Amino acid sequence: MKEKITTSKIINMKKAGKKITMLTAYDYPTAKILDESNIDIILVGDSLANVVLGYENTLPVTVEEMLHHLKAVRRGVKRSLLVIDMPFGSYHVSPEEGFKSALRFVKEGGAEAVKTEGDIYKETMHMMIKAGIPVMGHLGFTPQLVNQIGGYKVQGKTKEDADVLVKAAKDLEKLGVFSIILEMVPASVSRRITKAVKIPVIGIGAGPFCDGQVLVTHDMVGLYGGTVPKFVKQYADLGKKMKEAISTYIWEVHTGKFPTKKESF
Ligand code: KIV
Repeated sequence: MKEKITTSKIINMKKAGKKITMLTAYDYPTAKILDESNIDIILVGDSLANVVLGYENTLPVTVEEMLHHLKAVRRGVKRSLLVIDMPFGSYHVSPEEGFKSALRFVKEGGAEAVKTEGDIYKETMHMMIKAGIPVMGHLGFTPQLVNQIGGYKVQGKTKEDADVLVKAAKDLEKLGVFSIILEMVPASVSRRITKAVKIPVIGIGAGPFCDGQVLVTHDMVGLYGGTVPKFVKQYADLGKKMKEAISTYIWEVHTGKFPTKKESF
């Protein structure tokens, strides 16, 4: 039996200097593959909106949609730590409403932690942490603010902006989050932040100095047809492989090569 990954194990990995690995999943088979591959953290990201549901950005996805996918992922995960994104709007109206959505993710969906973007909803995060729901922070480029930021832009490029990010990371640590995602910041800034806090900093487009790395699975295996950011390394082209398999299937059905006696009763 493999050892279950918990939030305290994730914190200890930083202390031990062991890099943390994290990927997204939105369905049962992907979750099972990631879990069996020994990934440390599985995130039901609100990237569900773009890469699976076909929306333009993460803003439209709802608590109900996230919950539906979380339940499928839960059934495929045994070992990895299971984290879910709080979708846009679910923690912005009031701390009570945010807390209620987080409770649903834990009670109905089996999430082991939730992730919120930014550092302004501290009261909501505090309520969750106090109730025993571990919270992961998310700083740097926060996709739920894409309209305000005006696009997918690297954050913390000036000294002042970098200082603001370092302070935000320290504030989140003080609040009690167990780790922080750092998205699209210069490598020198993510190095500063990683050194400034004791909790793990997990980078995405944040260079090599973080305590761990996260990517959107569909991006890194070539399953998402849309534009893939510069920081993604593509480890496979499953989209191309699927198209080849499907073309062969169509051709074999058209030409009578499939099904044969072998596949018949
Ligand atoms: O939604 C998501 O997939 C994320 C990752 C990019 C960290 O938040």
